[in-house]
Amino acid sequence: MSEWLQAYRENHADFDQPSAIGALPNNPFVAFSEWFDTAVTAKEREANACVLSTCGHDLQASSRVLYLKELLDNQFIFYTNYLSQKGQLLDTNPKASLLFFWPQLMRQVRIEGSVQQIDPAISDAYFASRPRESQLGAWASQQSETLSDRAALIARFEAFDRQFPDAVPRPPHWGGFALQPHYMEFWQGQPSRLHERRVYEFSQNEWTSKLLNP
Ligand SMILES: Cc1cc2nc3c(=O)[nH]c(=O)nc-3n(C[C@H](O)[C@H](O)[C@H](O)COP(=O)(O)O)c2cc1C
Repeated sequence: MSEWLQAYRENHADFDQPSAIGALPNNPFVAFSEWFDTAVTAKEREANACVLSTCGHDLQASSRVLYLKELLDNQFIFYTNYLSQKGQLLDTNPKASLLFFWPQLMRQVRIEGSVQQIDPAISDAYFASRPRESQLGAWASQQSETLSDRAALIARFEAFDRQFPDAVPRPPHWGGFALQPHYMEFWQGQPSRLHERRVYEFSQNEWTSKLLNP
């Protein structure tokens, strides 16, 4: 071993003894929950923000940030406009990915799977819990469609405010999607630069896991 490498190893304990990936449980959903809770505790900003990537029949990938609402029955739940670009792409091709990046912790989680609309009753309950301005926004915004000018959006917001003076019902075009994963990958950056990756794959009715080269 060179003198340089010997000194480097002495200064980077994680070179020989990385910790985070080895400590992950065998259940990838428990693993995700542990890392998510750690991200919240570490005060990562917007810990529940993730990138949803979709791909239509033209094989053009498209990505956008959204909020993970919850992990429910081993499915990742997010809410959006079903008629939006992403909604239409998911109708076309329900295969999608979610990507979380927690920079303070130097962690990334990649999730891939298939997506379907959730039970409308669950969307109803969540919509009812949202602030009035969010509820009216869901009615007013024809998400991803051309907007002539901001005044047009405000006019629609005002119109729905008048239409629903009390409780605001859930718009039929707004609700949750559930991503059911078959692939989950955890990446831990290490000061030594020898980063760690562990992937979990669902096949033949069981999850298995292995390490990947970083
Ligand atoms: C931090 C952050 C959180 C967001 N959360 C959501 C969300 O939960 N649902 C949503 O539909 N859009 C959310 N957006 C907006 C999306 O990124 C996107 O602009 C919008 O959904 C339209 O995407 P589309 O045209 O691909 O359908 C969020 C954006 C940011 C930056």
